[in-house]
Amino acid sequence: MAEINLVQLLESDDSEQFFKGAAPFMKLMTQYRCAMLEIKTKLDVLNAEMALESDINPFESISCRIKTPKSIFEKLKRRGYEISVESIEKNLHDVAGIRVICSFPDDIYILAEKLCRQDDIRVVEKKDYIANPKPNGYRSLHLILEVPIFLSSEKKYMQVEVQFRTIAMDFWASLEHKVRYKKDLTGDIENLTEELRLCAEEISLMDMRMQNIRNRIKNMKKK
Ligand code: GTP
Ligand code: MG
Repeated sequence: MAEINLVQLLESDDSEQFFKGAAPFMKLMTQYRCAMLEIKTKLDVLNAEMALESDINPFESISCRIKTPKSIFEKLKRRGYEISVESIEKNLHDVAGIRVICSFPDDIYILAEKLCRQDDIRVVEKKDYIANPKPNGYRSLHLILEVPIFLSSEKKYMQVEVQFRTIAMDFWASLEHKVRYKKDLTGDIENLTEELRLCAEEISLMDMRMQNIRNRIKNMKKK
């Protein structure tokens, strides 16, 4: 794949040159999109199958996104990587991202395990921030997976990041994200951070209690 200079491209006034240069980038983004859809379909299938077995959908919602060119460019620059199409594939693992929101923590592990066990999936990385929360209280299960996509003349493995979290963890992460990126905050930030951390602990306890209630309901069902 030809190397392109994304900075030069964005600054260019020559449209023809822009589209010629951008073609390899667009092609790569399409490949990420295909890989993302492959994984999303696998998760949809697991969801439907598990719902049939147990009457409960293991996930509440699923959302997908491809990183924007601006955010790809900024991340490469921030990390000191070369700005090229090759560098995107080599250095970024979250160009294609899927977020799966489950009601109960147990379902996260069941779903993730069933997905990782599929024989065309390669697990590149697993970060369990549920078992080992970040110091700020962040909880989620992160997987970097590789899935093959079938192009006309080759089979190519593409990386997709999948984040699993409960509804409650997602609620927390959304608010924490807002606080983190608010540049104009003044005052007792430390206190706010500590309050968020305490909320994360409470949320985690609540997730476990809700899980427990669900298990009790399951056991109380007439045979
Ligand atoms: P990046 O992928 O560049 O972020 O670095 P990394 O691979 O070291 O990060 P990690 O796998 O820990 O996190 C990847 C993604 O998880 C981030 O882009 C966020 O979407 C989410 N995330 C991680 N930590 C936090 C956090 O403390 N708060 C919130 N709200 N989201 C987080
Ligand atoms: Mg990452």
